[in-house]
Amino acid sequence: MDLTCQASIPTWTQALAQPASEFPYTPLTALSGQIPAGLRGSLYRNGPGRLERGSRRVGHWFDGDGAILAVHFTDEGATGLYRYVQTAGYQAETAAGQYLYGNYGMTAPGPVWNQWLRPIKNAANTSVLPLPDKLLALWEGGNPHALDLEDLATLGEDRLTGLAEGEPYSAHYKRDPVTGELFNFGVVPGRNAKLNLYKSDRSGKMVKKASVLLKGIPLIHDFVLAGPYLVFFIPAVRLNPLPLLLGLSSYSDAMQWRPDKATEILVLDRETLTVVSRGETEPWFQWHFGNGCIDARGCILLDFVQYPDFQTNQFLKEVPTGQPQTAAPGTLWRVRLSPQTGQIQELQEVLDRPCEFPVVDPQQVGQDWRYTYLSVHLPGADIRQELFGAIARYDYQTGNLVTAEAGENRYPMEPLYIPDAQTPEQGWVITVVYDGNTNSSEVWIYDSDRLADEPVCRLGLPSVVPFGFHGKWRPALFNGT
Ligand SMILES: [Fe+2]
Repeated sequence: MDLTCQASIPTWTQALAQPASEFPYTPLTALSGQIPAGLRGSLYRNGPGRLERGSRRVGHWFDGDGAILAVHFTDEGATGLYRYVQTAGYQAETAAGQYLYGNYGMTAPGPVWNQWLRPIKNAANTSVLPLPDKLLALWEGGNPHALDLEDLATLGEDRLTGLAEGEPYSAHYKRDPVTGELFNFGVVPGRNAKLNLYKSDRSGKMVKKASVLLKGIPLIHDFVLAGPYLVFFIPAVRLNPLPLLLGLSSYSDAMQWRPDKATEILVLDRETLTVVSRGETEPWFQWHFGNGCIDARGCILLDFVQYPDFQTNQFLKEVPTGQPQTAAPGTLWRVRLSPQTGQIQELQEVLDRPCEFPVVDPQQVGQDWRYTYLSVHLPGADIRQELFGAIARYDYQTGNLVTAEAGENRYPMEPLYIPDAQTPEQGWVITVVYDGNTNSSEVWIYDSDRLADEPVCRLGLPSVVPFGFHGKWRPALFNGT
C-alpha cells in the first residue's frame, strides 16, 4: 500500500494560473444580506491580473500587469467592472503577443542590449489614489496612470503637475484626513539613491517637492504620516548594481539582504520636507506600516509588519509559480521613537500571528488610533505555500484580536475600513474574497464591530478577480478629504 501523502495544492493558485478576464459594468447580485444604507461610493482595488504572456510566466508577482476592480455603490445597488490599465507597455505586449520588457523580477527577453533598451515596464499594479476628478493607478517605479473614475478608461500617465517623465511616485501615499494634503515619495536609483518627497493639495496638484540622499540603493515601499512628521524605515536591503548594469539580473534578484547594515530611521518635517533626525536600529525588513501618530509625550508611535529578513521577497517571487515554498513570517510590531533623535525607545511585537496589509480608518491617518485592520494567516496554516485566509482587527486598547475567517479555501484580500456616511461612529470592513471551492470571487462587507459574525452582505462578481495588493474607498460625496 502506498502510504506517501501528496501535499494538496492550495486553491488560490487556480486564480493566478491564467490571465484574469476583464468584465464590463455588471449589476452585482447580493448573495446574502443587503448593502448598508451608509455605504455609498466606490471601492477600487488594484493587483496583477496577468502573470503570463505567450509561453512565458513573470519572474515575480510584482511583474503582473495591473487590473483594477471598481465597485460603485449607489441607491440603486452595486455595479462592478474590472479592467486592465492600458499602459503603453501593456498595449505593446498585447500587440506583440509576448513580453517585450523587463520588470522588477524579470529581465527583458531577447538580446542582452534589451536590458538597457527595454529595462522595465510600468506595471501600474500596486494601488490606487482616488482624486476628486480621476483615479490614479500607482506603481512605485514610475509615473501614475490616470483612469476615469466611473468606467476605468485609461487616460494616460499623470504627473500631478510636478513629476518628471518616469519619475517614481510610490503606491503608498498618505492623505491627511483634515487638510486633504497628500504626501508621497519615490526612490530614484543612482550611485546613491535619492529619496524624492512629494506634497500635493487635495486635488492631487503637487505643491512641494524635495529630496534626500540615501546610502546605496535600498528598497523602500511605504512610510507613515505621524502628526507633523513623515517617518521612513530604510531596511537592511541594498541593490547590488553590477549584475543589473551588466544585464545579468533583475532588480529583485539584485536586491540583497544585508544584515550587516542597520535599519535606518528617517524623520522628516511634513511642512518643509526636510530631515529632522536620522537614527538606526537592528536590521529587519518591512513592506507596510499601519499608522503613526504623536503620543502625549511628543513621541512618534507607529505600527508596521516586521520580517526578520528579506525572505518575503523570495516567497513573493515564487507565488506566480503556484508552488511557493519559502516561509516568510511577518508580524505586527509597534514602535515608539523620539522625533528629535530618530532613536527607538520601545519596540514591541503586538501580534505574533503572521499577517500583512495593516490599515486603519482613513479618518485617523497620522492621528491616534485604536484599531489596526489586517490580513492574517489561519492558525496552523502552512505559510510556505498559503495566502491569507482571514482578516482581523487588532484592538490596541484591549489587546484583543477579532478574526473573520473566510472559510476553507477562501482567500480575503486586504481589508479596508469604510466610515459609515450616516453614522460616523459606525464603519464597515470590505474585502474581496476568492473562493477556491467554486473558482469565483465575491465582495464581502462586514460590520467592523462584528467581524466574527457573518458578513452583512456578500456580492457575487461575474468572474475571478485574483488576489491583489491594495485598494481604496472613494466616498460618493468626495472633495479630497
Ligand atoms: Fe504595498
